[in-house]
Amino acid sequence: MEPFGSLNNTQIDLIRLENGGLSAEILSCGATLRSLRVPDREGRPLDVVLGFDSVEEYAAQDCYIGATVGPNANRIGGAACTIGKTRRRLDANDGKNNLHSGFAGMDRQLWEVMAVSEEAVTLLCTHPDGRGGLPGDLNLAVTYWLDEGALLIEYRAVSERDTLCNPTNHSYFNLDGQGSGDILAHRIQIAADRFTPTDAHSIPTGAIQAVSGSVMDLTQPVRIGDRIDDPEPQLRQAGGYDHNWIPEQREDEPFRRVAQVWAARSGIRMEVWTDRPGVQFYSGNYIPAGLKGKDGAVYGPRSGLCLETQAWPDAPNHPDFPATLLRAGKEWQSRTLYRFSVE
Ligand code: BGC
Repeated sequence: MEPFGSLNNTQIDLIRLENGGLSAEILSCGATLRSLRVPDREGRPLDVVLGFDSVEEYAAQDCYIGATVGPNANRIGGAACTIGKTRRRLDANDGKNNLHSGFAGMDRQLWEVMAVSEEAVTLLCTHPDGRGGLPGDLNLAVTYWLDEGALLIEYRAVSERDTLCNPTNHSYFNLDGQGSGDILAHRIQIAADRFTPTDAHSIPTGAIQAVSGSVMDLTQPVRIGDRIDDPEPQLRQAGGYDHNWIPEQREDEPFRRVAQVWAARSGIRMEVWTDRPGVQFYSGNYIPAGLKGKDGAVYGPRSGLCLETQAWPDAPNHPDFPATLLRAGKEWQSRTLYRFSVE
């Protein structure tokens, strides 16, 4: 553990992990994945996630780069929902809507480092009752663990009142190396035959739509750049991909592979495994042009892609979507794994 600057007079910690050819850096602010080095086809370590050189740059951006987002990831329409019998007003931080838990979500908080080893770190954050409109003190522990060519992220949560629990990791991947340009030449496959279409503000309409016969069909590997500028209204209104896909969920095998991405130049392939009901594929459409990243990199729209494993967006306002309600005192757990190999 070493210092990585300070925020409001509090030291930010950087934790380095290393195992089996992979290495990572985690920051205590936002339980953020700052770097992830993975061997390319020549065996050279390549940093495949976007990040920054300083705490100030993390604080100044609003792209959630590398952060743990919670307690509730993605959008809630009209920044309001009912929890139990109470109507809750949430922070409207994305137009009229709530995005990633509002102005003071867990991505903005200083997490406590609970345990560190060479290959794993556990961080803890308490989201206090009422913050952003959500009830209950909620404790979320996140463990990052490097193991056998993979990064495993494990979530454990408990709240003292009924509340929403739907965290995710908001890393932007560029498998040709962060700062190497856009991800349009990456190929992607998402093992989902349905998705949740959205309105012009990225709020689900409530429909659950088949992907077949549309540009949203990623069941077979597709070069992202071949489809992203298609006139399909779902893509045009979001400036590219920014949707929740619904991978098949099987009771007997809740932890399954939901997505794969291949990079042309580095040869790196990434698999995404999770037990969550949805995955948001976000093609980095809103990264501002000219954003200064770490190690001299300059980012812009589509310089990284996110595969955010989570519940379906706006779930609290759609009784037929998988629930995000966490009952008081009940322990909640989830796992997502990013596995790397070369081809
Ligand atoms: C959302 C995007 C949003 C971005 C913020 C993503 O999770 O899907 O719509 O703009 O977060 O950086």
